[in-house]
Amino acid sequence: VTGVLRTRAELRDALAAVPRPLGLVPTMGWLHDGHRSLMQRARADDATTIVTIFVNPRQFNEAADYQRYPRNETRDLAVVEEEGIDLVFAPPVEEIYLPGFDTTVSVGAVARPLEGAARPGHFDGVATVVAILFDLVGAERAYFGQKDAQQVMVIRQMARDLAIPTEVIACPTVREPDGLALSSRNVHLQAEERAAAPVLRRALLAATARWEAGERSGDRLREAMRETLAEEPLARLDYVSVAGGTTRAELDRVEGPALLSLAVRFGDTRLIDNEVLSDGS
Ligand code: PAF
Repeated sequence: VTGVLRTRAELRDALAAVPRPLGLVPTMGWLHDGHRSLMQRARADDATTIVTIFVNPRQFNEAADYQRYPRNETRDLAVVEEEGIDLVFAPPVEEIYLPGFDTTVSVGAVARPLEGAARPGHFDGVATVVAILFDLVGAERAYFGQKDAQQVMVIRQMARDLAIPTEVIACPTVREPDGLALSSRNVHLQAEERAAAPVLRRALLAATARWEAGERSGDRLREAMRETLAEEPLARLDYVSVAGGTTRAELDRVEGPALLSLAVRFGDTRLIDNEVLSDGS
């Protein structure tokens, strides 16, 4: 890393003559092994790599959630350095949202259910900031975690519709040994909540096992997730979903590829996870 880029002008100058292809890893900081896996993939694919660190106020549907989102730039820069990333762009809010900023990128059907329904405005915030970052950076490829499966679909739709040529690459979810998907939010879990949190993964695996045994009823697969979650008293269910098709509608019958997903609260902390059902895997 050659020093942290803070402004659009610094970013433009730094990118002017870098070797291509350029790989972008957009993050909100508090970097963990999931982010490291994205950086490693970018380094394998691309001649130059850039990480952005920007806690995007527009994608938090609750102000308190934005305030308490974990931040530690010193630690993040050490991670980026260890991973051999070439450039870091960590702008202040005013550098992304210029004074008088008044545009929202709002993706349609794919952004409406699940996280879109549970967190109004969230995907508008994500699509808006990622469109800006894609434009500013102009990378050939950008890397995102499959843990946020719907986010990946929203970003793909946005890039396609706005004719942004950056290719969107989804990388596998990285997990703790007990199955908990890595997330910056895990830091908020109390000890007993942390111990209970692998129930998300167990619920997904229970439904996957039923599907592998031939179960094709969406209701029964959703029920399998609910039953497993009910075993854990600290887990408060937000939603379980078996969705498919381009609009991610809830499925009555699982005939083709489908996405199992769920959102669960432990105290004030909301966790999500998912699993793809696909005959090819
Ligand atoms: O996944 C994230 O960390 C954020 O949603 C992203 C893609 C960096 C946009 O702020």
